[in-house]
Amino acid sequence: MAGPTQHNYAVLALLLIALPCYKAISTDTHGHQHHGINSLHFALFQHETINKTGYIVVNGVAGPGISQTTTPFGTIFVFQDPMTATANPSSKVIGIAEGTSITSGFDGLRSISVAKITLRLKQHIGSISIVGVTHNVKPSDHPVVGGTGDFLFVQGYVRSSPVNLKGLTVTYKIEFHLYWPPFAAKTS
Ligand SMILES: *[C@@H]1O[C@H](CO)[C@@H](O)[C@H](O)[C@H]1NC(C)=O
Repeated sequence: MAGPTQHNYAVLALLLIALPCYKAISTDTHGHQHHGINSLHFALFQHETINKTGYIVVNGVAGPGISQTTTPFGTIFVFQDPMTATANPSSKVIGIAEGTSITSGFDGLRSISVAKITLRLKQHIGSISIVGVTHNVKPSDHPVVGGTGDFLFVQGYVRSSPVNLKGLTVTYKIEFHLYWPPFAAKTS
């Protein structure tokens, strides 16, 4: 039977073998594959048109009123927004973001968001699910909680930043930073 000391040496040896591999992948900037560990970094633009792709379904109860950037605390908003390749809303639709946000800041600027983002990229088709707090006028990061299809087991985060908040259609830049853990390495 291996004693505690032998066990520790075995763990240390494993770490020493594994570390250089992780270091090699940490410099990835665009979709790369090394030793079965993938990462993918890209951006899309989400367009939301009030009363067309997004609706208030429950009115809030406190705080500022409805404006271009604020909604009363407790407002439930549901959306199904196109995500395009460039900031131009008529550029190619690459993804669909469907979900809900509930105003959770008394300043009317923050909301809990839950969304499924269906993606049709050149090499990857599937969806990712995100959850987190969106700030209406500042960049905010949302952890990726899972995925389907080619995005099964994906981890990482999605950064949402306002691009245009004026007019009936508001646009957000959505940056994806996705990582496949080793056990989810694509075999195709
Ligand atoms: C959206 O629809 C609601 C409910 O009909 C209405 O009160 C609101 O003014 C509309 N908003 C815009 C910007 O058209």
